[in-house]
Amino acid sequence: MKISRSTATSNAQAMLLACTAPTQLKALLTPAQLAELKVRNKQGESQVELYQNGQHLLCMVLPKGNDAATLEKLRAASSKAIQRCQELRAKEVGIHSSLGREGLDHALIEGAALANYRFNRHLSKPKDAPLARIKVAASSLSANAIKQLGALMDAVHLARDLVNEPLNHLNAKELASAAKMAGKEAGFKVEVFNKQKIAALKMGGLLAVNQGSLDPPTFTIMEWKPKSAVNSSPMVLVGKGIVYDTGGLSLKPTPNSMDQMKCDMGGAAAVIGAMYAVAAQNLPVHLVALVPATDNRPGGNAYAPGDVITMYDGQTVEVLNTDAEGRLVMADAISYAEKYQPELIVDLATLTGSAAHAIGTKGSVIMGSADQKVLNTFQKCGEQVHERVAQFPFWEEYDEELDSPIADMKNIGGTTGGAITAGKFLNRFTKRPHVHIDIAGTAFLDTAEAYRPKGGTGVGVRLLVATIKAHYGIG
Ligand code: BES
Ligand code: ZN
Ligand code: ZN
Repeated sequence: MKISRSTATSNAQAMLLACTAPTQLKALLTPAQLAELKVRNKQGESQVELYQNGQHLLCMVLPKGNDAATLEKLRAASSKAIQRCQELRAKEVGIHSSLGREGLDHALIEGAALANYRFNRHLSKPKDAPLARIKVAASSLSANAIKQLGALMDAVHLARDLVNEPLNHLNAKELASAAKMAGKEAGFKVEVFNKQKIAALKMGGLLAVNQGSLDPPTFTIMEWKPKSAVNSSPMVLVGKGIVYDTGGLSLKPTPNSMDQMKCDMGGAAAVIGAMYAVAAQNLPVHLVALVPATDNRPGGNAYAPGDVITMYDGQTVEVLNTDAEGRLVMADAISYAEKYQPELIVDLATLTGSAAHAIGTKGSVIMGSADQKVLNTFQKCGEQVHERVAQFPFWEEYDEELDSPIADMKNIGGTTGGAITAGKFLNRFTKRPHVHIDIAGTAFLDTAEAYRPKGGTGVGVRLLVATIKAHYGIG
């Protein structure tokens, strides 16, 4: 998708005019258009649509504040306008904003770009299509700021595409190839370990989950290390790359619980998207991302409840439920991260139904051993970009639930607090400051919510990029 800065928008088939007072439209509209706008505004509408000389004018009178709630209102309003443009089958839209503040214009254009998404790849006759271009005719954003925003939007769309792509089009190898392609495009380094290398490294968690599958696993390492980096030790991101989760021998009950499980690589999609954005935006930060990937199936030599496996770091795990597979592949990646002596490990995973049940689709669950200051940065940035996080407790008593009589730990806790025991499991694999984000409720939607489409949401990309910038005081 293209977002470009352009003053010549008279040829755009639709114009989105945003202002905080109707009088600001004077410069842009004919007297007749203004009169109509006035009449409609009297009827209490803040969003008005006009049609003049073959061009659609969508006029929005928007709130002026600068708080997180206002930003989200702007995103929702412009996303509504874009949906209207799509219904009108417009090919492009020109955005003309007199909101007069960078933050407001950023949110306005962001809402439009995030709504301008369709996963039409597998439709022979798509019912509608996204606009080919969003032209920013007037705003308070510089050309560079618009370019940066475009890169971020591309990153979110990439993450959504990856989540939406079904297993028969995106297995572990194909997910690794997608990361390679993203690296080529944005300029970060990508290395992919194949099954042989993974076996040589004795990544026992990833290998166990892969045992029931015909497709080999992959372990993808992405690195962005610009000379200008402000951090001497990197931040390492880890994303769950279960390209499909049947539950394995602890098979998920059908019909419902399995059909969305192509989304179980939502964490991988988020970290690939974040790497893409950070590199494309040329941010001065040393960042590494790890994606352990496989499908989880009950085939052939599938790992079985009761198995004891040895993980990459040498700890042993009694597997009591093969559907708690995410933590096994993630644990190997988290301990592998030690190689980079990271100052912070941040993992994202569609890890537990428990997190989704607790807070639904409105936010992700966050917890960890990192300093509360770091968790607060995530919380604050989450509000700003409206990828909110709610912190769960991380008390040590939860950890005891993982003790096993026959191995160093088991892969499930008790019947309650499942999101937290899953986080505690991961935390056993690093002594570094660690943040765990469970996106099981937010990575994939059954029904669209404003600019978040049905299906993959790309959640995590904007949260990570905003938090990385705030954490290092850049951008
Ligand atoms: N991939 C699932 C979690 C999930 C659930 C993601 C719903 C997205 C939407 C995960 O691997 C899983 O099955 N977790 C189990 C763990 C349990 C067996 C301890 C769960 O949450 O039920
Ligand atoms: Zn599972
Ligand atoms: Zn899973």
